[in-house]
Amino acid sequence: MSIERFLTGITTSGTPHLGNYVGSIRPSVRHSQRSQVQSFYFLADYHALIKIDEPVRIQRSTLEIAASWLACGLDPERVVFYRQSDIPEIPELTWFLTCVLGKGVLNRAHAYKAAVDKNTAAGTDADADVSAGLFMYPVLMGADILMFNAHQVPVGRDQVQHIEMARDMAHSFNHRYGVHFVAPEAAIEDNVATLPGLDGRKMSKSYDNTIPLFAPREQLQKLIASIVTDSRAPGEPKDTEGSALFQIYQAFASAEETATLKQAFADGIAWGEAKQLVFERIDQEIAPMRTAYLALINDPGKIEAILRAGAAKARAIATPFMAELRHAVGLRDLRSKEAAGNKTTKVALPVFKQYREADGQFYFKLQDGDGRLLLQSRGFAAPKVAGQTIATLQTQGASALAGMTDQLELATGVSASDLENALLTLREAKAK
Ligand code: TRP
Repeated sequence: MSIERFLTGITTSGTPHLGNYVGSIRPSVRHSQRSQVQSFYFLADYHALIKIDEPVRIQRSTLEIAASWLACGLDPERVVFYRQSDIPEIPELTWFLTCVLGKGVLNRAHAYKAAVDKNTAAGTDADADVSAGLFMYPVLMGADILMFNAHQVPVGRDQVQHIEMARDMAHSFNHRYGVHFVAPEAAIEDNVATLPGLDGRKMSKSYDNTIPLFAPREQLQKLIASIVTDSRAPGEPKDTEGSALFQIYQAFASAEETATLKQAFADGIAWGEAKQLVFERIDQEIAPMRTAYLALINDPGKIEAILRAGAAKARAIATPFMAELRHAVGLRDLRSKEAAGNKTTKVALPVFKQYREADGQFYFKLQDGDGRLLLQSRGFAAPKVAGQTIATLQTQGASALAGMTDQLELATGVSASDLENALLTLREAKAK
């Protein structure tokens, strides 16, 4: 059975909060404990430079985030846990990817576009205060992912576009230089993807509405007491719908506990009492980890050693891979002999094959360049319909599959992203 590679990074630009814990750290740590997965966890400190120019804050945040993940149970023996800036291959790969990605793709990146829109609204120059680093952010992120050929990248919805860009870079590179990269997929945690903050909006350091993950017990209690509620008096039934307090509780409690609180809301529990309940439930989960966290944060040497050992593991993969990539693009030992314009690394293109079966019906299938079956159609009475179905797939990509489940079937072991890759490769080849 093949091993799935799973990768995630956290920008070292702040102190981890409950939203990071619920949305990223907790699911990631759980996931890393499964068999058949190889996990990569890293501290995205190069990314932090985009937002922060206070060296001490970056250093402190790196320490806090590393300590948080370890305290939450990440096992550095089992996973590859490293600091991005310890891997010089990552910025090198960033440059390779920069050269295969269309600039227009970056123009359309949400974070950049938001900055431009804000400037435009304010009547200033479109690119005012936009660093080239912000503009290039998705490429660096693509390099993080492609460096280790990760299959799955757990991200919030706001980051899905970045994964799509990473896929785009993988395809463009593969298309030019032969297949070296896997196209990654975004893995979205749907049940508790985002946690509301103190003011009810998404918990985020940009809204200044966060609850630090390892706030001391008393501070945690105070912060939870400050979560916004409506003004219903004790005894009045309360809505769970739209209640930040309830949603936060739900992220920590079992289904049973949640149902009990829901009932208490209906029965008119006082807000103060509900807050106390939520506080105790959260603290119950966090308290043991808080102790571990404090011990770690007071021993930076230990964390430094763990990260360096992790970097050695990561580079055992990245260094030879980068050598392969350098060779692929032509940054080579001058003595090495490979004929100019050598086409052996070119990928054979996927093909659609149409045919008629003994049953008189018309069929088609899609094979990749090596003849592996990717997609099989059912029988169509008319060849024209088969042809139209192919055309729809070619223009709409794998998203068209959803509406065609009774006409088409992915071959076993083929994922929607494999199909998407094949269709993209075809489209790119046509565009040439
Ligand atoms: N952009 C992510 C964030 O802001 C951090 C990040 C950097 C990342 N590189 C990544 C996440 C690669 C997943 C994969 O949190």
